[in-house]
Parts: sequence; structure tokens; C-alpha cells
Amino acid sequence: MQTDFSLKHYNTFGIDARAGHYARFSTTEELMELLEVKPFDGKDTILLGGGSNILFTKDPSAVLKNEVTGIEKTAEDADHVYVRAGAGENWHGLVTYCIDHDWAGIENLSLIPGSAGAGPMQNIGAYGVEIKDVFHSLEAFHLGDKAMVTFSNADCAFGYRESVFKNKYKGQFVIVNVTLRLNKIPSYNISYGAIEKELEAMGATQPDIHLISRAVINIRSSKLPDPQKIGNAGSFFKNPEVSAEEYARLEKDFPGLVAYPVNRGFKLAAGWLIEQCGWKGYRDGDAGVHAKQALVLVNYGNASGQDIYRLSEKILQSVQEKFGISLQREVNIV
Ligand code: EPU
Repeated sequence: MQTDFSLKHYNTFGIDARAGHYARFSTTEELMELLEVKPFDGKDTILLGGGSNILFTKDPSAVLKNEVTGIEKTAEDADHVYVRAGAGENWHGLVTYCIDHDWAGIENLSLIPGSAGAGPMQNIGAYGVEIKDVFHSLEAFHLGDKAMVTFSNADCAFGYRESVFKNKYKGQFVIVNVTLRLNKIPSYNISYGAIEKELEAMGATQPDIHLISRAVINIRSSKLPDPQKIGNAGSFFKNPEVSAEEYARLEKDFPGLVAYPVNRGFKLAAGWLIEQCGWKGYRDGDAGVHAKQALVLVNYGNASGQDIYRLSEKILQSVQEKFGISLQREVNIV
């Protein structure tokens, strides 16, 4: 256990929040032991994974870091392999491991920062694929009952960057491991965004999961800041969904509006809305808006969580004023 512990290198925003008490666990038994002792036995204890979707706006009193590791194939049938990963495994490391074994399904999710355990928490997604598409089950520890519970895909109630762990069961479970059901026979998903174009530029005539992963890595690296160099947590806001009527109204007033049809209406590109409000490339002190992707807020070095949060408030307000749309934050605010 450590006291007054800097979390600067444990959150991708690079916020220098300080944990009153900090400890790590790599097994469920260690987690259970820690949860018995002060100050980790309280309600305020924060469970940290890769720290890639969190903004610390204050110093937490107690932080437990999930370092449960291990990747193993647990079952196999003619078409699928079932792969279990410790929640503390690095997500991209898991993706690379699966691609190296020719297990398909998560190649489009290459280079997403964070841990495997955080994947189902917010149903990570990119380039037309979400973890829910290959998710089989997970095991999580219930903090109140002190017992392990297994969740199936349906139990997680996955939605767009949503799951039961962000809603109904918020703060109640610690995800310990995640099992994915991957495909032996790949079905490629390259129609989204710039993947096809990037494959072409790479001279790849016959796509495979290795090439698709490389294309995704290239696209992400060109648009999104590397958290090792500039602090950020990916998209700060969600892309808002509007009804067909509201879309028609907006399109009339704002030609060039970027939107995609979804089930009940349209999903708007929040990055476009924010850019139209003049925020792209904005910087105030060390808090800013990424110059290549307005949906990403950045910490150039010494911004505080409050600085980033205040900037996000201003952006919310101006998008509300210009478009009449309330953006929702995607990042967890602590
Ligand atoms: N756009 C702009 N200006 C900007 C940014 C975007 O005009 O500054 C417009 C462009 O027309 C662009 C479109 O918005 O074509 C969509 O942008 P992009 O492809 O970069 O994707 P996104 O909708 O901004 C979402 C996810 C990302 C994911 C990408 C690719 C959310 C909140 N974000 O971003 O996920 O990588 O699609 O699939 O859904 C994350 O969740 O942290 C994340 C990075």
C-alpha cells in the first residue's frame, strides 16, 4: 500500500491527481483481502484499470489498481475459439495476441487504449465493430455480496458506449476477467470510414486481419493523439442521436451536417458540431481541443482535471447554444 500516490502515469489524461491510499491486486483473493482493510473497505474506493476513460477532477482517497493478467484459450469448436483475458491485460496487447493466433473479430478494435476489463464496461467500439459483437461472458466480483458473478452478453445490456456496469450496477462490481468468442473463419468489416481507402494506400489487395489491424492503427495514429505524448482519453463526448425530424431541421439550418442513419433516427458527428463552434485546435493553458479531432480533449502537460472539465462545460454550452443539442460526456468524471 502506498500513500499520497501520484496517479499521473496511471490515467491517460496525465492528470496529477494524488491517491490518499493506493494498492494493486493481481488475483481475486488479493482484491478480497484489500477490501477488508481500511481505507479500501469504504464506498469511495475507486477501481482503476488502464485509466483511459477517466478524468480525475479531485484527489481520490483510495484507489485499487486492477492488475489481473493472463490470456488463455478456454474452449474451441469448429468455428470459434473462446479466449479469456485477465481484466488488467492491456487491450491492444490482447488484440495483438489474438491476431497473432489468427483469431478474428477484434482487429478493428486495434490500438484502443486501456485494459481488457474496461472493454465491456463501456462497450468499446471503433470502425463499425463493438466488443459486444464478440463478447461471450465475464466474471466480476460483487463488492457488497463479496461473491463472484458470471455475466453473459445479454446480462451486460450493452448499448452505445454503455453497459450495466456504467448504469444499474455502477460501482458495484469489479470485472476480473473477460471471455471473447472469436472467429476461426474471419468475416471482414472494412466498409466503415477510411479503412478501405487505407488498405488501398497500403497496397493491400486481399484484406486479412493483420492488414486490417495495420490499417486501423494507421488511421488512429493519424487522427488521435498518442496518450504517451499528449494526455487524452479518446472521444470526450458521445455522438448524439437525434430523431429524423430533428435531423431534417438541423440539416436545413446547417448544410454539411455530418450524420449517419441509425435505428430510430440519426447519429451526429459530435466532432463536427464542436468544430463548427470554433473549438478545434483551441488551447487555454495546458487544456485544449485536439487540432485533428475536435471530439478529443487534450492535456498538453500540466492541466488539472478541473481545467479539462471547465473546458468541456464551455464546449457543451456552445454546442447547446448553436445547435440546441446537449452532448453527453463519454469519459467517467471522478
Ligand atoms: N469530424 C469533423 N471534425 C472533427 C472530427 C470529426 O468534421 O474535428 C467529422 C468528420 O466528417 C468525420 C466524422 O466526423 O468523418 C467522424 O469522425 P471519426 O471517424 O473520427 O469518428 P468519431 O465519430 O468522431 C467515433 C468513436 C471513436 C472511434 C471512431 C472510429 C465515439 C464517441 N467515438 O469517433 O471512439 O475511434 O468513431 O470508429 O463514438 C472513443 O470512444 O474514445 C473513440 C475514440
